Order: sequence, then structure tokens, then C-alpha cells
Amino acid sequence: EKGGYDYFMLKEIAEQPKAVADTLLGRIDGSGSLTLDEVRIPPGVLREIDKVVIIACGTAFHAGLIAKYAIEHWTRLPCEVELASEFRYRDPILDAQTLVIAISQSGETMDTLMALRHAREQGSKVLAICNTNGSTIPRESDAVLYTHAGPEVAVASTKAFLTQLVACYLVALYLGQVRGTKWGDEIRAVIRDLSSISGAVDEVLGTMEPVRELARTLATKKTVLFLGRHVGYPVALEGALKLKELAYMHAEGFAAGELKHGPIALIEEDMPVVVVVPSPRGRSVLHDKIVSNIQEIRARGARTIVIAEEGDEAVVPYADHLVRVPATPTLLQPLVATVPLQVFACELATARGNEVDQPRNLAKSVTVE
Ligand code: M6R
Repeated sequence: EKGGYDYFMLKEIAEQPKAVADTLLGRIDGSGSLTLDEVRIPPGVLREIDKVVIIACGTAFHAGLIAKYAIEHWTRLPCEVELASEFRYRDPILDAQTLVIAISQSGETMDTLMALRHAREQGSKVLAICNTNGSTIPRESDAVLYTHAGPEVAVASTKAFLTQLVACYLVALYLGQVRGTKWGDEIRAVIRDLSSISGAVDEVLGTMEPVRELARTLATKKTVLFLGRHVGYPVALEGALKLKELAYMHAEGFAAGELKHGPIALIEEDMPVVVVVPSPRGRSVLHDKIVSNIQEIRARGARTIVIAEEGDEAVVPYADHLVRVPATPTLLQPLVATVPLQVFACELATARGNEVDQPRNLAKSVTVE
């Protein structure tokens, strides 16, 4: 049932192009309009929403962090993202004008379930983004947008994450469509690129051998740091989480701009630092800033592992290892930039002799608070 792969995780990483395509299937029509008929929250209600709050745990929380950038940019609605385990204990401000999005692969995560119950008690509408048909979280929500990743067996979430991102982009675009915000050429281009993103994920998968080789050489390292900016920041957090849970290594993700506020003190000779570089097109200020960040850490001895778009030549002089990903609009880059980090963590876990599909101390679905 592992389809010829040694681990479910490898199989699930390889299934990502199809999972992404399946999640998009039937949801964007030929003219580039979104048809999310399954979202049973009436358009009239969505037009009245004045805030979006996303609740989730772990990898699903990272998908939520990325969704915030898309929702705020495409709809101009304020969006908060909160760890479900923290949410209801801080007396959050919720009302009938708040749309709460609960993201969960399993649909059974107790922290997320308790947070969504709290939101509904305050009168908010809850939309679940879930991978498991008929599970508790979608059953208790006002509406559900299913991700069509297929069953995910490995404890470390991979294809569920990519499809959660796709579902979040769809919801953000749908909110924009319903509310008539910013429906211009930029959105049309994003919809076009989203429709072909599965091919880009496939392309990344075809170039992963050097990443595997690199991972094997780092098996005795103690710490790996991950840096990103903008949507690359949650990607960095996700890369670090994967490494912790699979390789049992100390790993941390930082917003690259925070380096000089403390974390740069961690850098020592030959410490691997993975940097997720945003596209040099469009938001070039961001790009220039991260190139200086790479220079700064390299000057302090870091071994830089740079994930950058094809054709980005500015990073070449400062990259000890360069991983290329296809060009995408900035907001969609997590769909391609996360894949090398999954492969990296999986290979490091294998090199360290760890159980890839069943990491120690972890369960696939966390049904206790
Ligand atoms: O089933 P859920 O999406 O609600 O699970 C949330 C987290 O427990 C989950 O993403 C966890 O962080 C994964 N093991 C990460 O790979």
C-alpha cells in the first residue's frame, strides 16, 4: 500500500501534484470564476463579514499564516491567525460579522474543535477546511471546503498542507469575488497560475536528488535554522517543524528581519541555515532585503542553503547550496518552496535512522487538549 515507496511520507510527497490538482478540480470555471457552491454560507452573509479569524494547530496553523497574506491582500479584510490551543483562553473578540476558518487535516483535533465551538457560541460563522469527510470539525461547522488530498497516513503532514494552502487561496479569492474587491488583472493572473501550479510542484519533485544528498551530509549537525520573509516566513516555520518532528534535531524558523534582534547570535561556523527567498519580481524590496540577510549570516560563518526562484541570479554568490523552484506569483510560492523542505527533513530522518512515518512521541491525530 506504500506504492513501492519505503515510507508513506515519500509516497505522500510524490502525490502532491495530483492532490493539488484534485483540490482545484471543478472549483475554477473556464472564465476564471470560482464556483464554491459547497460553501453554504450565503454570499449575503460573506458580504457582511468584517474580519476573518483562522484557527488551527501545527502544520495547519502554518497554512493559516500563509492564508492571512492572501486574504488581506486580495480582500482587504483584516485576518488574524491563532493557535487553536491559545484561542479561547484569551477571550477573543468574535461576533456574527467574524468569519472563522478552522483548518484541520484529520477533522478531529481537539484544540481546533474546542476553539470552533467557542467561536460558534459567540455567533460567528465557521468554515472548516478539512481533508477527512464526515469528521467532527466539518460536522460542527457552518460550512466545509474539503481538501482532496486523499488519505494521509504519515504523521508528518505533507500533501494535506499543500492542499490546505490551495483551499485557503480558493477561499480568499472567493471572498474577493463575492465582495467585489480588487477583481483586476492581478487576481486573474493568480487564478491562471494557480490552475497550472500542479505542474510546478511536479517540476520541483523532479529536481530533489541534490537536496537528498545534502541532507545526508548534515546528519550529525545539532541545529538547523530556517529564515524567510513574507509568505516565506511561515514556510520557514514549516521547514523547522518538519525537521523537529522527523529528524529530532533542534530547528527554528525565523522572520529574516528579526535576525538582528537576537537570533543572529546563534550563528556559528558551518551551521546550516535554510533561506526561503521571495521572487525578485514584484516585491523587489523584500528580495533585496533577504539577499542582505543571506550576506550577513554568511559573513558570520553560516552554511547557506538558499531556496530561490529560477533565474534569480542575485543570490548565487551567497549560496553555498542553491535549490531552484519554478517562478510563481509571490503569494503562491509556498506551494513550491515547501516541497524541498519536506524532502530535506524526510532524508535527514532516514539518515539518522529514525522511524519516518511514526516519529517518537507523536500521534497522527491529536484528540486530547
Ligand atoms: O489534523 P490536523 O490538521 O488538525 O492536525 C494538526 C497538527 O497536529 C498537525 O498538522 C501536526 O502538526 C503534524 N504532525 C505536522 O506534520
